Amino acid sequence: MANIKYYSGKKIPLEMHKVRIVQKLRLLPIEERLDAITKAGNNTFLLNNRDVFLDMLTDSGVNAMSDQQEAAMMIADDSYAGSETFVRFESKLKEIFGMDYVLPFHQGRACENILSQVFVGEGQIVPMNYHFTTTKAHININGGRVEEIIIDAGLEVTSNHSFKGNMDPEKLKKIVHEHGREKIAFVRMEAGTNLVGGQPFSMQNLRDIRQVCDAHQLILVMDASLLSDNLHFIKTKEEACQHLSIREITRQMADLCDIIYFSARKLGCARGGGMCIRTPELYGTMKELIPLYEGFLTYGGMSVREIEAITVGLEETMDEDIIDQGPQFIEYMVNELDKRGIPVVTPPGGLGCHIDAKCFVDHIPQTEYPAGALASALYLISGIRGMERGTISEQREEDGTEVLANMELLRLALPRRVFTMSQIEYAIDRLSWLYEHRKLVRGLVFTEEPQILRFFFGKLRPVSDWQQKLCQQFKKDFGDSL
Ligand SMILES: Cc1ncc(COP(=O)(O)O)c(C=O)c1O
Repeated sequence: MANIKYYSGKKIPLEMHKVRIVQKLRLLPIEERLDAITKAGNNTFLLNNRDVFLDMLTDSGVNAMSDQQEAAMMIADDSYAGSETFVRFESKLKEIFGMDYVLPFHQGRACENILSQVFVGEGQIVPMNYHFTTTKAHININGGRVEEIIIDAGLEVTSNHSFKGNMDPEKLKKIVHEHGREKIAFVRMEAGTNLVGGQPFSMQNLRDIRQVCDAHQLILVMDASLLSDNLHFIKTKEEACQHLSIREITRQMADLCDIIYFSARKLGCARGGGMCIRTPELYGTMKELIPLYEGFLTYGGMSVREIEAITVGLEETMDEDIIDQGPQFIEYMVNELDKRGIPVVTPPGGLGCHIDAKCFVDHIPQTEYPAGALASALYLISGIRGMERGTISEQREEDGTEVLANMELLRLALPRRVFTMSQIEYAIDRLSWLYEHRKLVRGLVFTEEPQILRFFFGKLRPVSDWQQKLCQQFKKDFGDSL
C-alpha cells in the first residue's frame, strides 16, 4: 500500500481502491442471535449467512474481486477440451512461477488429495512447518503422518519474530537422520501458515530448507494458498529482499521449489485451485488422476469463468497496492486490540486477526473448547462470525483420546478488500466489551461429533446457562442497541 502520512499523525491504512458493488447486511437483535447460534449447535460453520453481520469465518472464496476480474469472466471459453481460458491460465502460471507444467484443480484440498495419493505411502512422513486441516487429513488417509517442525517461536502466541512460519532446518535434518530419506514422502512449506496465525516464512528460510532437501534428494512442495500475505511480509520485513519487486520475490521463491499448489479461493481472489510442477516425471505421475477426480485437463472441475478471474487475480497479486490491503487492515486491528490488553497473536500476520482464547477465557479448560466457546460468545454479542482454530479443529486419537491443540485461537478472517474501517472499529468495540465480561463465558460439550474434520459439522451445547447471562449483561449495557 502506498506510503501516505496523515497530517494528524494517525496511523490508519488507506485503501487504494474504491467500492463499486455492495451487499446489504443484517444485524439481528441479540435474542435472535441466541436462537441462531443455538440452532447451529454453537458451530459458526452452521450459521446461515443471512443471520451474520460481519462474516469473518474465512478468507476462502469470499475476497472482493476487481473490475478486471469480473470483466475477464465475460470472455471465458467453455470448450471442454483445449479451452483458450485454460491456455491463458496456464501461461500466467508459467510466467509467474517459471515452472513448465500446470494442472487445474477444483480447489486447494483437491491438490492435496492427488499429491498424497501419489507421493504418500503407508508409514511415510511429511515434514512441514505446520499442518493445515485438509492437508493432514489427506496425508493420514493415505497412511502417512505429519511432522510439524516449525521454529519454536512459531508456537509462542506473542513474539517479535518477523517470520514465525519458518521451518527449523535442524529439526528437518534430524528427521532425515532418524528415519532415512526413503521414509519421507516430501517436505511441505506452507506460506502464511494458516493455523498459527497466518505467520509467514522468510526467503532465507526457504533457501535453508532447499539446501537440506538437495542434500537428501527430497521433493520440496510449497502450499501457496496464502502466498500473497507472505509476499507482503518478505517485501516489508526481510531486508535482503526489500529492493526486489513482488514479481521477483515470487520467482525467487518458486525457483526453490519442485511443486507449488494453491487454493485459488485465496490466492487470486476467485474460486478454484492449481498446481505448478517442475519436471515431466513429477507431472506425469499426477496428470492421470485429474480426469478421474477433477475433470478434463483443461478445466479441472473449475468453471471457466472462475479460471479467467484467477488468471487476472494472479497478475494482480504481483501489485503491492493490492496485496498490502489485507495485512495492513489486520495490523491495525491487532494493534488496537493489543493496546486494550486483549490477548492477540503477535506480530500481526496475514489472513486475519487471531485472538488467543487460552488467555482470553483462561478459566475454560481446553477440554471444554475455549476457542469454540469464544467464537459462539462473539457471534452472540456482535453478529460477527469467526472460526474456532483450536482443539475442536483437531481430531481425536484412534482410541478416542482428545488431542489438545497447541494454540486455542479464535480467528477473525479479514477477506481481502471486503470490510471498511468502521466495521473493523465495530469489531474492536464489541471484542473490548466481551473482554470486560469474559468471566461470563463458559465452555461447550459435543452433542454430535463427526469422526473426520469434526469442526465442519459438529454440534455442541453450552455447559451451563452462560449464554443467557451474557445476553442479560448485553441488554443492561447496550439497552435496545442491536
Ligand atoms: C494453507 C491452506 N492450504 C490448503 C487449503 C485448502 O484449500 P481449499 O479450501 O480451496 O480446499 C487452505 C484453505 O483454507 C489453506 O489455507
